[in-house]
Amino acid sequence: MINKPTYLGKVVSVSGSSLLIQLTPQVRSGLLIIEGRTHRIGQVGSFVRIPQGYNHLYGVISETSESIITGANDVDVSERRNIKVELVGESIGDEFERGIGQFPSINDEAHLVTEDDLKKIYGNNDEGQIVFGKLSSSDSINVSVDLDSLVNKHSALLGSTGSGKSTSVSSLLRSIVTGYDDVITKPSARIVLFDIHGEYAAALGDISTVYSVSPRDGEENLFIPYWCVSPESLIDFLCGPNENVKNKFMDCLVEEKKEFVRKNKIDLDEDKITPYTPLPFRLNKIWYDLNHEDNVNWKEKEKTNPSYISEGDFSKLEAPKFRPPNTTVANLVVKGGPQNMKKQLDLMRSRLLDRQFSFFLFPGKWGPDHKNKVKADLPQLIKQWVGNQKPITILDLSGMPSSRLDLLLGSVLDILFESAIWGRNLSEGMKERPLLLVMEEAHRYLSNDNNGLSKDMVRRIAKEGRKFGVGTMLVSQRPSEIDETILSQCGTLFALRINNATDRARVKSAMSDGLSGIVDSLPILRTGEAIVTGEAVRLPMRCRFKIPREGRFPDSSDPKVSERWAQPYEELDYTKLVDSWRQQNAYLPKEDK
Ligand SMILES: Nc1ncnc2c1ncn2[C@@H]1O[C@H](COP(=O)(O)OP(=O)(O)OP(=O)(O)O)[C@@H](O)[C@H]1O
Ligand SMILES: [Mg+2]
Repeated sequence: MINKPTYLGKVVSVSGSSLLIQLTPQVRSGLLIIEGRTHRIGQVGSFVRIPQGYNHLYGVISETSESIITGANDVDVSERRNIKVELVGESIGDEFERGIGQFPSINDEAHLVTEDDLKKIYGNNDEGQIVFGKLSSSDSINVSVDLDSLVNKHSALLGSTGSGKSTSVSSLLRSIVTGYDDVITKPSARIVLFDIHGEYAAALGDISTVYSVSPRDGEENLFIPYWCVSPESLIDFLCGPNENVKNKFMDCLVEEKKEFVRKNKIDLDEDKITPYTPLPFRLNKIWYDLNHEDNVNWKEKEKTNPSYISEGDFSKLEAPKFRPPNTTVANLVVKGGPQNMKKQLDLMRSRLLDRQFSFFLFPGKWGPDHKNKVKADLPQLIKQWVGNQKPITILDLSGMPSSRLDLLLGSVLDILFESAIWGRNLSEGMKERPLLLVMEEAHRYLSNDNNGLSKDMVRRIAKEGRKFGVGTMLVSQRPSEIDETILSQCGTLFALRINNATDRARVKSAMSDGLSGIVDSLPILRTGEAIVTGEAVRLPMRCRFKIPREGRFPDSSDPKVSERWAQPYEELDYTKLVDSWRQQNAYLPKEDK
């Protein structure tokens, strides 16, 4: 075997899954020519093979070093080149498996891994394998991920800004749902992408349905009905934190929900309705009722008839007005309400009037009218998000007030996850038709010091999602800011270029395989190049994502500074910019001059 052209050297030490291999002097030049192809020896990130009878162990090179042994009079006696290798898998016959069942012994041979071997390892014709790019070291070898593990065991795509995350995500999603020539091969895929910057419609428009707060041509209106939101979060948003208001609000909420059930003849036991039952209710009615309760004065001691000046109108957000208390017998008015909620109710009214939140507080078909009827209910909402004809649903959250991102995103996650839980035995549930949630800019709502609804939900989904058919893919430029529990649940990691040492350290600790040597190469990766490790890949690998076709990149290209700054001076008008800002809509139609 030593005479084989692929022979590299022998094992000189074994410690856990790390090996030290001493290279033979024949490969000192650093090059090996096999079947006319030149192979570079000892490249960090490339593979070695250690035959064990009929089986072969495979490892990744994580370090190379040279030691010089000096003899008497400081004369160099011999040089030794060593490579450090992390074992990652084993092939038994033609089958390649992750993990190893046996350790090599000292003096076992190590061989170069040729392209043929690599093809065997990455052989990707098996069902469920998604080819998403090529190996960095060899353009002729496709790399693939196992779709089942990718979705079920969650994944994360991490990299500094501009490292190509969004482009890679769109390329990966396209590889998942389409085959050759963009023909959809997974027509029943359920992928929901939370697009924080509104960049994906450009990249995936042809295979996705886009919902947006400020829709452009071909996009649909995004509504997140307030009545789907956890009541505590909703009350905090509407009235600010106040226990007294919260309690009274909850009571009114239950009453309103019962009323909805009666009016719409829904088959539900009224006694079982709680503030958390997902039923529509009228917010303006609750506002009115709270106002009434807070301010009411009565005509008589028995407190049966309110002494109105005007009754007001909840549909117009007009509060009732009452005559002031009066003790004279002729004009008796008995004081009723404690009048301690004025501030909160005023805040609620101004929220209800704020058009910025109309996608939430006036949710189109999903908003109950003043007769407490809705044109569309929860089933239609869920269908919009996961039951589209196109395999990907993009929820463009870019027009959303950023202070409320957490609440709204968390609410969508809540609805989707609850429907996964309650539909677990149904054919339309996620267990039968799994759902992948792609979360861009995850550090914004999953950071260590953020304790909002989104983080709670993602934590839950990361821990329990697999049982109900919900998987997540997190995308972030600051892995060090993402909650550790969540990141540790991600079975597959795509690490793109990461310049920052803290972020790198976090990625290193999240990688399951002992691959610290490879992680050190993260700052030198090219744009769109990644190290992929974990459940969904057979071997840790350094690879490049498929580059999208011209015109299929996300709307996130780098600004062209030098080109633009060199253009002749032009006087510009900023009215439109301010219009967009005031109307909170970055896509106002262009006016003809
Ligand atoms: N594989 C690739 N080959 C060439 N250029 C690429 C590749 N991937 C991305 N780019 C380019 O790099 C730039 C940044 O890409 P992208 O928006 O995907 O980065 P990002 O990591 O998502 O950044 P951010 O964290 O700021 O969102 C874009 O101009 C994009 O066209
Ligand atoms: Mg991006």
